[in-house]
Amino acid sequence: MKWESSLVEHLQWSDTITNRESKEQLARMIAMRVQEGEIIGAGSGSTVYLALLAIAERIRTENLHVTVIPASMEISMECVRLGIPQTTLWMCRPDWTFDGADEVDPDHNLIKGRGGALFKEKLLICSSNRTFILVDESKQVSFLGSRFPVPIEVFPMALPYVEREVLTMGALRTELRLAKGKDGPVITENGNLILDAWFGNIHSSLEKEIKSITGVVENGLFMGYDVEVMVAK
Ligand code: 5RP
Repeated sequence: MKWESSLVEHLQWSDTITNRESKEQLARMIAMRVQEGEIIGAGSGSTVYLALLAIAERIRTENLHVTVIPASMEISMECVRLGIPQTTLWMCRPDWTFDGADEVDPDHNLIKGRGGALFKEKLLICSSNRTFILVDESKQVSFLGSRFPVPIEVFPMALPYVEREVLTMGALRTELRLAKGKDGPVITENGNLILDAWFGNIHSSLEKEIKSITGVVENGLFMGYDVEVMVAK
């Protein structure tokens, strides 16, 4: 039986989408890769949202059977709105995953997590044999940390301790991420806080060093992951 609520039906993407044309080009490119019967991991963010629209169009016109494992609540709700079946990592392993990124360096190291979904995004990427990272040209940087901080998901009570450790590791500045549309901090889907940390130098072992701090659930550095980066021209 279906709910009579139309809340999800009338969902709209929360923010203005930057570089929309490039992201739509990427969306079409990734939708073309979808094959009948696949289970696909979907990260989070506006590029993923536009890609879902393109995938839904192929599902509709070609009568494809595709199942998505979403990395965030907004992407899950979007799947509901578009009628795309979903599953979880409990049940299935994705055939492949696609996601966006905030920064990509020439070696394909990434910063992700502007949307606060970094933990599940990393879990999906680690669970997949193949991952496509979709970026417009604005995301390409010569070194990580050029534009974005490193987001760190922190168990709430560990916040002061984690901040101290991150500063000791060389962070120049930290900031507790605040919510829009709610007083106080952003609370992740896992009930944690996000500490944004600006580093002058992001070296290859920093991801693991941050992760080793007690109280850190995950961080938005993806150093040396086996990902295929697709760039919109
Ligand atoms: C969310 C992410 C996104 O992939 C990243 O922020 C890119 O977002 P967009 O596609 O909206 O530019 O990591 O946690």
